[in-house]
Amino acid sequence: MNDAVLVTGGAGFIGSHTVATLRAAGRRVVVLDDFSTGRRENLSEWTGDPQVEVVEGDVRGEVGLLLAGHGPFAAVVHLAAQTSVVRSIAAPIDDLDVNLRATTRLALWAAAAGARRFVFASSAAVYGEPCRVPVAESEPTTPLSPYGAAKRAAELYLGCLGPLHGMQTVCLRLFNVYGPRQDPKSPYSGVVATFLARARAGEPLTIFGDGEQTRDLIYVGDVARAICLAVEAGSKEHVLGDMTAGPPEPAGINIGTGREVAVVELAAAVQRACGVKAEAITFAPARAGEIARSAATTDTAAEMLGFRAEVELDEGLRRTAAWLAEQG
Ligand code: NAD
Ligand code: UD1
Repeated sequence: MNDAVLVTGGAGFIGSHTVATLRAAGRRVVVLDDFSTGRRENLSEWTGDPQVEVVEGDVRGEVGLLLAGHGPFAAVVHLAAQTSVVRSIAAPIDDLDVNLRATTRLALWAAAAGARRFVFASSAAVYGEPCRVPVAESEPTTPLSPYGAAKRAAELYLGCLGPLHGMQTVCLRLFNVYGPRQDPKSPYSGVVATFLARARAGEPLTIFGDGEQTRDLIYVGDVARAICLAVEAGSKEHVLGDMTAGPPEPAGINIGTGREVAVVELAAAVQRACGVKAEAITFAPARAGEIARSAATTDTAAEMLGFRAEVELDEGLRRTAAWLAEQG
């Protein structure tokens, strides 16, 4: 248990919840983050906890030098990334540098440093427009954005590098994650954070396109639990899947709820959660590189990790709105 889990991007939205679940499981955690979108306040709960070390640095840099003296590492959870589909279209090379090149370098370093497992935050964006909804892991992957393409390429690199270097790699295809600590202020923020912040401020919600596009919205606490299960899988009795023999098939595991929610439906649910009038909605042109429908099949995560999402949308929105209210 003394070996640490390295969490890149641990000061971010999903990262800080992941630190919480890993600490609750008794793990020592080392965070590597450049604080480009992550915040020190997200980790304030662990100030003074000797089992949580925070290293400021860029995953594109000399990770071995940055992390010297902080290991050994049992596992790496790699979350640090350029996270916006929109930004990847505006700046695809920057996206590639972080989301593919740095991921590959980090995996090579992790294997050489003796990490036994590498858990990677992939995305539903790898599917592009799915042939069937809910989409199963065995369906074709045809990403529509550089972001999705880089995530899929990273899955393929990890699929090769793992067996070559004796490290288990687990790619979690996260669907649309929302919850407390998701930044509501950036133009690249996720839809739930943006909608909640605008509704609370009495501003109209802007829907891109006709709002009939759907997403599978999963609460961040559920995602952090899935990541923790992926770190521990095979090492604990309650985990059903046997991942000790090598990387799981298929290459990625969907992490979603299985429920498809239209953006118009989400807007109404957000307005209900904030007690705002339903007509306060404006429509703008659809974004480029957008997919029309998205929802996950959930059986692989249940079989491999013993994971199923538990938090219903209304409850997740309530918790997120309560967190936003605390922020003032
Ligand atoms: P986030 O922006 O809150 O977290 C990213 C973290 O990585 C931040 O703390 C940021 O400071 C750090 N970071 C970024 N670039 C870095 C670099 N070069 N070096 C070191 N640290 C760096 O975003 P998030 O939503 O928590 O996303 C976490 C991961 O999950 C990402 O890989 C993202 O692609 C993936 N993902 C997110 C969603 C979602 O809906 N939020 C869905 C699918 C996949
Ligand atoms: C999101 C994630 C991405 C992840 C992917 C997995 C963010 C910023 N992006 O991309 O990291 O890999 O899910 O599925 O979290 N919308 C509006 N109005 C708004 C904002 C958004 O109508 O003000 C619409 C968008 O046009 C889109 C939907 O809401 O149809 C979701 O958008 P967004 O939250 O940006 O997420 P994705 O692009 O799906």
